[in-house]
Amino acid sequence: MILQNDFKRQWEFVEERAVGAVRRVGASGWFILGLEVEAFEKALAEFWGVAHAVGTGNGLDAIEIGLRCLKLQPGDKVLTTPLSAFATTLGILRAGGVPVFVDVNTTGGIDLQQCRDLLKRDNSIRFFVPVHLYGCALEMEELARLKSDFELRVVEDCAQSIGASRGGIRAGTVGQVAATSFYPTKNLGALGDAGALLTNDAAVAEAARSMRNYGQSAHYVHSEFGLNSRLDELHAAILRDAFLPNLTTWTDARRRTAKKYLDRIENPSLQFVAPSSVMDSVWHLFPTLVARGLREQFQGHLRARGIVTGVHYPRLIPEQTALKKGAWHNAMDPVNARRFAQGELSLPIHPFLTEPEVDAVIAACNDWKPDQS
Ligand SMILES: Cc1ncc(COP(=O)(O)O)c(C=O)c1O
Repeated sequence: MILQNDFKRQWEFVEERAVGAVRRVGASGWFILGLEVEAFEKALAEFWGVAHAVGTGNGLDAIEIGLRCLKLQPGDKVLTTPLSAFATTLGILRAGGVPVFVDVNTTGGIDLQQCRDLLKRDNSIRFFVPVHLYGCALEMEELARLKSDFELRVVEDCAQSIGASRGGIRAGTVGQVAATSFYPTKNLGALGDAGALLTNDAAVAEAARSMRNYGQSAHYVHSEFGLNSRLDELHAAILRDAFLPNLTTWTDARRRTAKKYLDRIENPSLQFVAPSSVMDSVWHLFPTLVARGLREQFQGHLRARGIVTGVHYPRLIPEQTALKKGAWHNAMDPVNARRFAQGELSLPIHPFLTEPEVDAVIAACNDWKPDQS
């Protein structure tokens, strides 16, 4: 089987270092918010090129905490995308924000021109949660211009895009806050749930450290209604020793596979959703758009050859049942996002694919002849 993620192969690769980290934490007798979390936060901030990293329990909480630390008030509108993991919108709703959905462009990322037009029409919007989807950074210069032109407070959702950049600007360095996830499938995935918030603002970092720990500003002094969303010492140690040092090599492997797919897959019924440069994306996923009504057929064709694919995402966030309860707006009909919901299919692109496996995916894509009857 050619999997979307091959955790067993990954384990063979990281086992020795991961087990060493577990031994060290076990022997330390200290499991919550200690030296391991501090050391991982420092290493992550260095990797990211920002001043502060704050480990959290997961990526969802990092979005909520980020918005609350930027002083979002209940009822504040927050621009965001209808095409993402549900957690992006859930973080906004949990912080008390009202999501305002703007359609995506042909890359699947939120359409920044449509955002600009909307911000001109509605000057009550002060918050923005853009998502760097599929590993591909949004147009960073335009994001920075939007932030300054409309005095936006921005939490960049970088759960899928650690290490990505566009025009020489890294994802997660334009907003006041970046939020990321170490969910196991992510490019930097933990052996369980974990996440982080990144910022250059020392006051935001301090507020986030308090908010992840019950809103505690000093021992037994609670100044906010916080969360219990602490990164564990164990996850921090494993991430720092076994995963973060491999991230660049793993990203390079993803890029090599992406290049082969882009160069060698040729099928008129498949369209790529590719950035202008292979090197800009960190290829969390390799999305394709399958001709109308043929996705299930193509997925079945690949499955018959032992190739596992994914769909990101089959249902738009505003169409989820849970949203019947919350307050939100569609700024426009999300026609482009709907094309992705109906036609997107992700090919395997994890870093442990072998060359014959990549060749097998390419051959299977090229020999698919859709049955249009
Ligand atoms: C774009 C995006 N945002 C947020 C999240 C939430 O991260 P977590 O699962 O760690 O809460 C995810 C991961 O599922 C994601 O893909």
